[in-house]
Parts: sequence; C-alpha cells; structure tokens
Amino acid sequence: MRIIKTDDYEKMSKEAACLVASEIIENPKTVLGLATGSTPLGLYKELVKMYEEGKIDFSQVTTFNLDEYIGLSNTHEQSYHYYMNNNLFSKINIKEENTYIPNGLVVDVDETCQIYEKEIDEKGPIQIQILGLGENGHIGFNEPAEQFSKNTGEVVLTDSTIEANKRFFDKKEDVPTKAVSMGIATIMKAKKIILLVNGAKKAKALKAVVEGEITPQVPGSVLQLHDNVIVIADKEAAMYL
Ligand code: F6R
Repeated sequence: MRIIKTDDYEKMSKEAACLVASEIIENPKTVLGLATGSTPLGLYKELVKMYEEGKIDFSQVTTFNLDEYIGLSNTHEQSYHYYMNNNLFSKINIKEENTYIPNGLVVDVDETCQIYEKEIDEKGPIQIQILGLGENGHIGFNEPAEQFSKNTGEVVLTDSTIEANKRFFDKKEDVPTKAVSMGIATIMKAKKIILLVNGAKKAKALKAVVEGEITPQVPGSVLQLHDNVIVIADKEAAMYL
C-alpha cells in the first residue's frame, strides 16, 4: 500500500483527481469504479473543473458504482443514482449508457446482482476503483462479517452505518436498511484502488485497515492483499499511522 498524507480534504481531493485524470488521459476508454458519500465529493468537483477547463474528456469513459440503497427510486434525492447525476454525470460529457449503478428497485435482487457482476466482467476490468471508508471499516457496503463477501450482492446495513448515514435523511427511520453492493472479491479485481479517507472520525478505522490484522471484521483490511492500493488520507484521518 502506498500512503499519501495530505494537509487537508482539498489536497486529498486534488491528489485523487490528478491520478484519475492521468488515467483518463492515458487511456480515454478507461473504466472507473466510483463511490458515493461525503468523501469523494471534492474529487468529483475537481474532475468537473478539469473537464470544464478542457483537460479531460469523459466521452469514452465507463463507470461502475459500488452500491445503491434497496428501495429508493433513481430520482430519490438520497439515491446514489441521484447523487451521481447531481455531482458528476450531469456536469461532464459522459454517455449515460456508459454509467452503471446497481438498481435498488428490483424485484429479483439476486438476478440484478449477477447481471451487474457480468457487466463488470464484460466491460472491465475496472482500472481505478475509488473507495471511501466506513467508520466501522466497511468498503462499499460490505459490513464487518464472519467472511469476506464475494460478488455483488444484497447486504444488510449495520446500525453503525445507518447511524452514520442518517445525516442525509430527515430521520434515522428513513435510511434504507438494505443495499446492493459490489462484493469484496469484485472490488479486489480492480487494477488499482484509491482509498480516500478524511477526518478524525475515520482515524481508528484507517489504522485498522492499514496496519491491523486482515480480518472480515474490518472489511477494508483486505486491501493489504491487493498489490496496487493508494491510500490518500488527510492528516486527521492519518493521525494514528
Ligand atoms: C459509498 C460507499 C461507502 C462510503 C463510506 C464512507 O458508495 O460505498 O463505503 O464510502 O460509507 O462514507 P462517507 O464518505 O459519507 O463518510
């Protein structure tokens, strides 16, 4: 793992944007794995800026998102479809048909997950997977468990994740309790992984991910087994490293 410590959130976001932009410039048909949540908002802002300045072209880029809540429509303001359109896709020249996000409103979740996994295999490999980190060490929505999850599948969110994400909803009861998430094995197939972590709240989890035992109780610790991971953390998140 390569660790880049930055002074603040803005610098973390800029470092990540430079890595993503270099990849797109080198390989215009690149496939990106994307995350949602608060952490990558600065990265997306930087990418939009670079696009507006004519530095990057998304016309041939394909994206796969990590996850989506089950039960929220694509137009729900807290759905990850809405988030991606609002924060990135509507502001760049990416083709809608090249953006993949699991559908949270399906009847047959298993079938949808299998199709998603197949699409990643067909269009992939994912060249750069962006990840954020949960306070409980989760990546994607792969929560602490007895075993590392494999492929894209349905996950039940832990109380800690619901608690952390309730800030986006009117009340805790509105946070969906289930999601579809790329599995750990899916994430590990990416050629390069960029883990973004900011803020003191994530410091313990980051230490466990980077220096702790590799255990499904800390899902992100599996990244120690990947040979091309870049952790970009601001100084608060990196304080115990
Ligand atoms: C989001 C995702 C999650 C978040 C994590 C951190 O697509 O997969 O793993 O990255 O929960 O969320 P924030 O960035 O809101 O602290």
